[in-house]
Amino acid sequence: MDLDLGALEEMYAYPPTREPWIRTNFVSTLDGAAYAADGRSGSLGGPADTRVFGLLRSLADVIIVGAGTARAEGYGRVRPGEVDADLRHRHGLKPIPPIAVVSRSLNIPVALIAPGQMVIPTEDAPQARVEALGEQVEVIAAGTGEIDWDEVKNRLAAHDLNRVLCEGGPTLHGQLIERDLVDELCLSIAPVMSTGAAPRIGHGPVAVENRMTLGHAVQIDDLLLTRWVRKRD
Ligand SMILES: NC(=O)c1ccc[n+]([C@@H]2O[C@H](COP(=O)([O-])OP(=O)(O)OC[C@H]3O[C@@H](n4cnc5c(N)ncnc54)[C@H](OP(=O)(O)O)[C@@H]3O)[C@@H](O)[C@H]2O)c1
Repeated sequence: MDLDLGALEEMYAYPPTREPWIRTNFVSTLDGAAYAADGRSGSLGGPADTRVFGLLRSLADVIIVGAGTARAEGYGRVRPGEVDADLRHRHGLKPIPPIAVVSRSLNIPVALIAPGQMVIPTEDAPQARVEALGEQVEVIAAGTGEIDWDEVKNRLAAHDLNRVLCEGGPTLHGQLIERDLVDELCLSIAPVMSTGAAPRIGHGPVAVENRMTLGHAVQIDDLLLTRWVRKRD
């Protein structure tokens, strides 16, 4: 494995932006599956993808994740050793990015219920639970029935959280794609052909096609690190 993290830091730098820029990060098999037979995605990309996963976290103001992924992958808050402190300082980022969990049920992993972390529910989520969570985490309730993403973006911008990293999963990603909110996709393509019931990395009932343009493609052994930017013109 030959990873030039300095070069990758430049290649993955966020564009200058005064409003939230939503970058999503996924690894998939060659046939587009979002997870391996064990129901998790970590084994697909190997060490190079793990390093890039950490780099992308290091470059982010905030990490958004769907509750399904937080539960399946056993999410906890980001620890100091998991991000590059020097890089964050150079990019003007706070020492640790908060994790913001998107959930309707408010079944949030206990490890994410801690000061500094965030939860994004709808406004009609169970009030008692919202209030209890609100004593420990920042709650950004927006929208009725469905999350109002414009409002979420406004609230993130108000917190100066413009470099947004969304780590999935496929259901949340599908909703962001459907609403044309994905500005950039970082996709690691793993050298695996698979079958089975795993969904694609963007999963949802409505068929949309949003054109992207290639930002970069870097080969690390048999893994392909790609970055795709939304082409809106
Ligand atoms: N290949 C990859 O890079 C990658 C990345 C991430 C995840 N994964 C895999 O994907 C699997 C999980 O898939 P998933 O589709 O269930 O994940 P998900 O999108 O993370 O979770 C779905 C859940 O998130 C909440 N949610 C999502 N969108 C919402 C919205 N607009 N409003 C309110 N709540 C919303 C809901 O939580 P509640 O149920 O709490 O209401 C929903 O049930 C795991 O196996 C994980 O390993 C793969």
